[in-house]
Amino acid sequence: MKTLISTLLLSLLALTLQTSSVFAEPVYSLRGTVGVDELSEMIPNRRSMAVDGGIDVNFEDQPPVIPHNIDKTRITLHENSCLGCHSKENQKITNAVRPPKSHYRTREGDKLRQISTGRYFCTQCHVPQAYTKPLVNNDFKN
Ligand code: HEC
Ligand code: HEC
Repeated sequence: MKTLISTLLLSLLALTLQTSSVFAEPVYSLRGTVGVDELSEMIPNRRSMAVDGGIDVNFEDQPPVIPHNIDKTRITLHENSCLGCHSKENQKITNAVRPPKSHYRTREGDKLRQISTGRYFCTQCHVPQAYTKPLVNNDFKN
C-alpha cells in the first residue's frame, strides 16, 4: 500500500513539473517577455503626424485617422476636448472637420441634437498616427 501511495505521489509530482514547464515558456508580446506582474520599459514617445488637409482613407466607411497631435486632449465622463473643436457649434470657429450626420443619430437612426453616446469615445475608432516603423510588415494596398 505504501509503495502504491508513493508511486501515485511521484507521478503527481512529475505531472505538476511537466505542466509548470509549459507555463515557464516565455510569452512574447509587444512589451517583450516581461511578466504581467512586472514593470516593463516605458514605450518611447513618438512624434505625432500632422498632415494639413487630413490623411486619405484606405477603404470605404473607414473612420478617418486623426491628422494632428492629440497629446493634450482628454476624453472623460465630464469632458471631451475633441468636441471643444469638432462639435457642431465650435467647428464654425475652429474650422475643424464637422463629424458626419451618422454621429448625431441613435442606433435606431433617430436624429439627436448632441453627439451620440455611442460615438462619445472618439479614439475608439479614430486614431492618431506617429512617425515610426511598422511593427509588422504589411503589403495591404488600398
Ligand atoms: C484644437 C482643435 C482640435 C482638437 C482639440 C481636435 N481636433 Fe481633430 N481636427 C482639427 C482640425 C482643424 C482638423 C482639420 C485638419 C486638416 O484637415 O488640416 C481636424 C481633423 C480631424 C480628423 C480628420 C477628419 C478627416 O475627414 O480627415 C479627425 C478624424 C479628427 N480631427 C479627430 C479628432 C479627435 C478624435 C480628437 C480628440 C482626441 C480631435 N480631433 C481633437 C482640430 C482639432
Ligand atoms: C464607432 C466608431 C466611431 C466613433 C466612436 C467616432 N467616429 Fe467619427 N467616424 C467614424 C466613421 C466610420 C467615419 C466615416 C464614415 C461616416 O460618415 O460615418 C467617421 C467620420 C468622422 C469625421 C470625418 C467627417 C468628414 O466629413 O470627413 C470626423 C471629423 C469625425 N468622425 C469625428 C469624430 C469625433 C470628434 C468623435 C468623438 C466625439 C467621433 N468621430 C467618434 C466612426 C466613429
